[in-house]
Amino acid sequence: MGDKKTVHLDFHNMMADSIGPEHGITEEELKGLEPLASQYVKELKDERIQGKLPFLDLPYNQDIVVQILETVDFIKEKFKNLVVLGIGGSALGNIAIHTALNHSFHNLLTDRERNGFPRIFIHDNIDPDGFSHLLDIIKPHETLFNFTTKSGTTVETMSQFLILIRLLRNKLGNGYKDHIITITDSERGTLRAITEREGFQSFSIPAGVGGRYSVLTPVGLFSAAMSGVDIGALLDGAAWVDKACQSDNIWENPALMGAALYFLSHAGKNKNLLIMMSYSSALRGAADWFCQLWAESLGKKFSVSKEIIHTGSTPVKAIGVTDQHSQLQLYMEGPYDKVITFWKIERFINTVPIINKEDAVESGLEYLQGHSLNDLIETEFEGTRLALTEQKRPNCTITLDELSAFTLGQLFYLFELQTAYAGKFYKVNTFDQPGVEAGKINTLALLGKKEFEQRKTEITVQLQKKKEGYRISCGN
Ligand code: PA5
Repeated sequence: MGDKKTVHLDFHNMMADSIGPEHGITEEELKGLEPLASQYVKELKDERIQGKLPFLDLPYNQDIVVQILETVDFIKEKFKNLVVLGIGGSALGNIAIHTALNHSFHNLLTDRERNGFPRIFIHDNIDPDGFSHLLDIIKPHETLFNFTTKSGTTVETMSQFLILIRLLRNKLGNGYKDHIITITDSERGTLRAITEREGFQSFSIPAGVGGRYSVLTPVGLFSAAMSGVDIGALLDGAAWVDKACQSDNIWENPALMGAALYFLSHAGKNKNLLIMMSYSSALRGAADWFCQLWAESLGKKFSVSKEIIHTGSTPVKAIGVTDQHSQLQLYMEGPYDKVITFWKIERFINTVPIINKEDAVESGLEYLQGHSLNDLIETEFEGTRLALTEQKRPNCTITLDELSAFTLGQLFYLFELQTAYAGKFYKVNTFDQPGVEAGKINTLALLGKKEFEQRKTEITVQLQKKKEGYRISCGN
């Protein structure tokens, strides 16, 4: 693995040695899980060999890197804007990459400063005001619209598609097709059918890769490459973690250890909240991405053997130092129902001195002399971690050597694998999301989709009942 960057998991403060046995995990508890953990590694390996887990092999698909880079080379300078339309797993990975690896104010840089790459807008909601505001600031003739949906039928993305297709046809006439690129299933779904009929440029999402596991497919890679991110390095980082997490020994496999620690804390110590506290603003998108991955994969009513279990721990994003002034009070003194995972970057790209040692400083602020913002964020992280540990709050730390495409790829793969292992511990189907269906069906029924007529009648009665009581207003 040579000089490549390492990702570290420090779980000392998860352990009883550090925070006591009431909230901390003992070595015996971890040892008790070893046989199961080892069996789960073997099961995942078998499933991978049988082709049931294609997301695990994505880091080795260098062909897609070549194809995407060829496309990007050809089109990037034709467009001032790239607008990505998608939702859930079809947007959160893109946002994670963009916020982590591009300049914080990418869209405000000049064309030259962006090296000729377009401005990036990732729009994952249908709030009518937000959508109108997007249309206010982008001009269709200088914009590429990237519609991403694995199913090719998602109502939010397809509604955006209908709006924008009409707009593009009206504004651009015959040339409108050059302003569209779709990323969807290779065969199934309405968007694939339209893509083939209209001859839109398109990439396919590999079969068997679900939305929240698709960041290392064209779903995440295309928009990343359109902003100059080194997508080959993203895949290399992921492959690095794959190789580093092969062992069936829990003590030698960070993804497996991470899954075991979260599971034991939840099942054995009632820690049902998983706080992901990133001491890097740039990783806020990655924290949102993780929250979807964990929540949708593990929050399940049924076990794989169809028992009702209503399981899953709730992931929550927090940002250091910002949330020290917002959430930390609760983490320090509230219920003992949380595990805090700090995300830390060893070396930031920039060093920002606060005030030089020799410069004059206001009285009361002398302690900042000779320090940088880098020292300050590091010290605040250490101070907060120590304070939480002293309060016997279980916490662990994931450290990246630096923030780069390679290390972000590492983080993605580490968490995907960890979630897959956790699914084994929780005994759930990690890769479905049946709970999301009920709300979708209600929406489609209310919108008048033919196959849900009966359901529409039922819910109209329900909604009516609710309106008749238990309402109170401020004012008239
Ligand atoms: O992880 C998932 O499968 C979901 O979050 C989907 O990504 C989300 O529902 C969007 O689906 P689609 O990509 O089919 O539009």
